[in-house]
Order: sequence, then C-alpha cells, then structure tokens
Amino acid sequence: MSMRVAVVGATGAVGSTMLGIMRERSFPADEVVPFASERSAGRTIDWGDRDLTVVALSDEAIQGFDLALFSAGSGVSEEWGPRFAAAGATVVDNSSYWRMRDGVPLVVSEVNPDALDGHDGIVANPNCSTMQMVVALKPILDAVGIDRLVVSTYQAVSGTGQRAVEELHDQTRAVLEATDVPPAHVYPHQIAFNAMPQGESFNDGDDYTTEERKMMAETRKILGDDDIGISATCVRIPVYTGHSGSVNVQTSKKLSPEDCRALLSDAPGVQVLDDPSNGIYPLAIDAAGRDDVLVGRIRRDPSHDHCLNLWIVGDNLRKGAALNAVQLAELLLERQLLRGDA
Ligand SMILES: NC(=O)c1ccc[n+]([C@@H]2O[C@H](COP(=O)([O-])OP(=O)(O)OC[C@H]3O[C@@H](n4cnc5c(N)ncnc54)[C@H](OP(=O)(O)O)[C@@H]3O)[C@@H](O)[C@H]2O)c1
Repeated sequence: MSMRVAVVGATGAVGSTMLGIMRERSFPADEVVPFASERSAGRTIDWGDRDLTVVALSDEAIQGFDLALFSAGSGVSEEWGPRFAAAGATVVDNSSYWRMRDGVPLVVSEVNPDALDGHDGIVANPNCSTMQMVVALKPILDAVGIDRLVVSTYQAVSGTGQRAVEELHDQTRAVLEATDVPPAHVYPHQIAFNAMPQGESFNDGDDYTTEERKMMAETRKILGDDDIGISATCVRIPVYTGHSGSVNVQTSKKLSPEDCRALLSDAPGVQVLDDPSNGIYPLAIDAAGRDDVLVGRIRRDPSHDHCLNLWIVGDNLRKGAALNAVQLAELLLERQLLRGDA
C-alpha cells in the first residue's frame, strides 16, 4: 500500500518537529504533504532528499490521505479533523479540542497504547506536561497504585508556539541591551526574567487555569482511573525548550525511593538521572532534543509515609507533542488500525 501523510500545521513549532522526527525514524511515508495557513502556502520545506511545498487547506487538497497529523490549533482541528476523517484518513491530533471527548482515545505510546483499538477516525495526543508526567507515573501506578498527585510545572515558552519563542527572545535581548522591553503579546505579562503562574487562561468563575484543568482531567483519562486525586499549578518560565515538573506522588502501597528508582530505570521512554550530591539530576537544557523523559530527585516526602517527590523533565516539542504523535502513527500502522485497513 502506498502511504500518503498530511502534516497540518507543518510550519509551526510542533509540525516542523514532527517532520524532523518522521525523517529520523524513517517513517514509511511514500508522500508527505505539509499543510499550513494561506500565509505559508507555496513555501518550500527542505525534508532531507525531498523538497515539500506547503499547501493551504481545502476540500480538494485533503483527499486521498491515509494519515493526517494535526498541530495547527484547536479551531483547525475542530473544523478539519472530521473532514480529513470523512475523506478516509486517520487523524492524530495535537490540539486540546478532541482530547476529552467520549469515543476519542487519548493515548501515550508507552502508557495506554491499547486505547487506540477503539478509535473512530480521530486519536488525540495529550497535553505536553501531562504526557511526560504519565510516562514516569505509569510504572508506579502498575506496581503500587496511586492515590493522589500534587504537581507544579515549570514550562518552557515553546509549549505556546513559535510566537512565544520570539517574544522571549526579543524581550530578553531588550533587557540585556537596556532598551525598551517590547510589550507582551502572547503572554499576559513580560516573560523574560520572570515566572508566571498562568498557563493559558482562566475561564469565568474558575481559579484554575485551562492548562491546569487539562493536566488534571487528561491524567485521569490516560491512566484510566477517575479516582486519582490531583492538584496542579502550571507556571511559565523563560526557558526555550523543556518542561520541568515537581511531582508529589502518594502511592496506595508504600514504595521506597530505591524501589522507585529501580522501577523507573526499567521503564520504556524513561531515563533516571539521580545522583544529586554530584549535581546529577534532570535539566531542561539536557532534555531538549532528547526523546526520553528524565526523572531524578527521587526522595521520600518526610511529611507522609506513602509520598515520594520526583523531578520530571521532558522535551515538550518531542515526547510532549511531536514524538508521541509519530509513535502513535507508527502504532496505528503496526497494528493495522488505519481506517483503510478495516
Ligand atoms: N508547542 C508545544 O509544546 C505543544 C505541545 C502539545 C500540543 N501542542 C498543540 O499543537 C498545536 C500547534 O502548536 P505549535 O506550538 O506548533 O503552534 P505554532 O508554532 O504557532 O504553529 C501553528 C501552526 O498552525 C498553522 N496554522 C495556523 N492557522 C492555520 C489555519 N487557519 N489553517 C492551517 N494552518 C494553520 C500555522 O501555519 P502558518 O505558519 O501558516 O501560520 C503553523 O504551521 C496547538 O494546538 C498546541 O496546543 C503544542
């Protein structure tokens, strides 16, 4: 079968990373078509041995695809995801639009790959900070159960997209050159040299942000356990790439830090870096560009017998988005779950 793949949002932070990862992993696509907005239509993308020309979305252009990997925002996913699916493609969507809908699997390749079985044309890729956290939590859940999580994130600006990266860059340069700092456009406040306890927005009457709500709801859906208590605080910091998270895990059965380290050392997609007295622990700059989720600072919470503290760091553009989307595409292929396979 000849495999045609659409990458929707191909010029963005996640889309360009997906294209790179598809090449690195020799994804078996016979044809790849990059889609973006009218602004980018006609642009050429260098994709190894091929040049790809960016196309705008239209009913004619979306015909005949086996797979469509989306990362162009919720509005585009809402409108064009079902259209690609109706035209016969299986959609893997990075936006938040489909994630919590009934009947749409929300899947992390190492955590709940079997959830792909029930898809009806659209599969959702989780939120970035949630994704990296559940990769590290799944082995703990399976071994001893999890009752409760208290999470604080330290999230990079690339998690908000390309314009946020430019905003941090321009503001930082202005501060260092002692010129006027450009006003914030993407974020509600200056992000350079700051820490901002607002990931995304606040809905009316809710004192949690939409990012925090996603983290709490998606964690339960992926882990398949609505009883896990979870409280999240999501903070944006002036780092380009790599989300970090401090996670307090209350387990059902007691787990020692040593056993936790051993469990995570054997877990797929996880690397333990935990020798703090020698300065060895996960860092955002080390996670950037890597596929594994890094875990360290594993230690007993002295205030509770069943609680451990973990420091979890991952590349938000890779495992947090693009890599998992490509891994889901690989699983769909391997398991013959593309719509054309039925
Ligand atoms: N960044 C992350 O770490 C991350 C992690 C998980 C999920 N996500 C999700 O992935 C999606 C994309 O995020 P991003 O960070 O890659 O954003 P981004 O850098 O702003 O890129 C957005 C992409 O969408 C395209 N686009 C915008 N409007 C469009 C339209 N009307 N029709 C077709 N294409 C359109 C843009 O094309 P132009 O270049 O033509 O404007 C660009 O290719 C979002 O839903 C985000 O929530 C991001």
